[in-house]
Amino acid sequence: MEHVELAAGELLLRPWRDEDAPAVRDALRDPAIAQWNPQGDGLIDDEVALLWVRRRADWSAGDHASLAVTSAVDGGLLGSVSLHHIRHGDASIGYWTTPAARGRHVALRAVVRLTDWAFADLGLHRVELCHAVANPASCRVAERAGYPAEGTLRESYRYGDGRRYDEHLHARLATDG
Ligand SMILES: CC(C)(COP(=O)(O)OP(=O)(O)OC[C@H]1O[C@@H](n2cnc3c(N)ncnc32)[C@H](O)[C@@H]1OP(=O)(O)O)[C@@H](O)C(=O)NCCC(=O)NCCS
Repeated sequence: MEHVELAAGELLLRPWRDEDAPAVRDALRDPAIAQWNPQGDGLIDDEVALLWVRRRADWSAGDHASLAVTSAVDGGLLGSVSLHHIRHGDASIGYWTTPAARGRHVALRAVVRLTDWAFADLGLHRVELCHAVANPASCRVAERAGYPAEGTLRESYRYGDGRRYDEHLHARLATDG
């Protein structure tokens, strides 16, 4: 899959670069991101952050499209949004925002933009979004981005504190309008 850049008002969604690694290291150390977007048990150091960025910059397998969410004004890193498990017209979407970027609907705007691209350009039919029931901010993002809740998955995912949590499954279809 070819890299893309997606403009969304004052946001620019663009492929990850090596230079993003220090900001990613800091973001992945944020307690809320460590809890709800866990990266494994190890310490998040410069090397881990660089590997994280490089994995997401490599779209060659065609199974994910991962983008840095940045400010179109000053280029600063605001968050992450990615389509993963792209297969047979389906995918899942995931995201986080840096602590400093929260409170401005950055995740909502990034999810809407990437989903529009997924349907219009990738030709996907269904995108799923899962979040812990204990994470109401993420539920809000899902609902406002046009992903209605479809049900509750019981103790379906082990999050950063090592506990399994119930999750809401949300999804949006290309035909939802
Ligand atoms: C969830 C997250 C991505 C939302 O990012 P954001 O775009 O910066 O979200 P905002 O701060 O603008 O808040 C979005 C909505 O959630 C609401 N919200 C925020 N914190 C909340 C909380 N603790 N409880 C309930 N609602 C909350 C906001 O009021 C807002 O609601 P609105 O749309 O009605 O105005 C961000 O908080 C984050 O990265 N959290 C840690 C990692 C994470 O949860 N990742 C998602 C894993 S599924």
